[in-house]
Amino acid sequence: MIRRAYIVYPDSTPRKNNAFGWFEEAALENGFIPEFFFYKGASLPSELAQAPLPNIVLMRGYNLAIGRYFEKKGVRVINPSQAMEWCRDKYRTFLKLSDAALPTPWTSSPMSIEQAGKRGFDSLCDCVGNSRFILKQNFGSKGENVYLITSGKCFDEALGECEKTLQKRLAQGNGEDIENGCSKEEIIRGGAILVQKYIENSYGKDIRVWVMREKVVGHILRYNANSFKSNFAAGGSFRQIPLPPECASLAISATRTMGLDFAGIDLLYDSDGFTICEVNGNPGFRTCPTDLPRAIFSTLRNETY
Ligand SMILES: Nc1ncnc2c1ncn2[C@@H]1O[C@H](COP(=O)(O)OP(=O)(O)O)[C@@H](O)[C@H]1O
Ligand SMILES: [Mg+2]
Repeated sequence: MIRRAYIVYPDSTPRKNNAFGWFEEAALENGFIPEFFFYKGASLPSELAQAPLPNIVLMRGYNLAIGRYFEKKGVRVINPSQAMEWCRDKYRTFLKLSDAALPTPWTSSPMSIEQAGKRGFDSLCDCVGNSRFILKQNFGSKGENVYLITSGKCFDEALGECEKTLQKRLAQGNGEDIENGCSKEEIIRGGAILVQKYIENSYGKDIRVWVMREKVVGHILRYNANSFKSNFAAGGSFRQIPLPPECASLAISATRTMGLDFAGIDLLYDSDGFTICEVNGNPGFRTCPTDLPRAIFSTLRNETY
């Protein structure tokens, strides 16, 4: 039986991106006819509303309207829109993981940039219980607007950068973040400030694990000698290491807890084991040693949609 798969990307994705070819090949090999669609902003593109219903929709971006539309029509969306909404939001991720008793660094509730500025460096140090802490915006990727705060001066600078990013997002389109598929309300929620316990032992390194369903499909050590951030996009490197067994079970539990089918999980080296830094429902896979599109479609092949 031939099945149709819609694969949906933000319009800002360069059309010569070789991920299209990888997905196309993996889909065809596993009995799916793939079709690519692109969105701008937070609403459902008319082409998608007019297209015949596919068997599955694979989301490669955070436009939630598309997922919700197809889910209402009974089409299986990967990853589900609810799970995407939760994992894009670093504070909700913290709440979900903590509720499930999974290890993750303590994180404050979101504050506006103005509120954070009013609280000030000293009071936030008291709140975290340390003279150093991590500051990040609630939505973000590639290590952008993630800071290690060690003084009042670097706190003020970080808030200034966060404000610039927020204003830039608000200035796009009709108050929508075109690139990230966010409505105005979501841009504001995403621009909020979180302060988080700094996992000092993990300076410049973490383990990235890719999970599809209940299986680990790839992992790497990411590292950077010049920054506390290990993101490849922030100048980090990566290499293969044996996967500590604890990491596999943590990554699978985190994926399941967030309701995701596939995910990229970042694990920090805490002093007494690993702790979950982030659960990414739209992970890149250029650094993944295995073929992630093939892992996704070969799993979907055996399921009924
Ligand atoms: N609490 C923390 N303690 C130590 N390092 C951290 C912490 N939070 C983030 N980092 C480092 O910063 C990187 C980026 O942070 P992350 O929250 O994953 O943001 P992004 O979504 O931009 O990747 C992580 O991969 C890790 O190397
Ligand atoms: Mg990350």
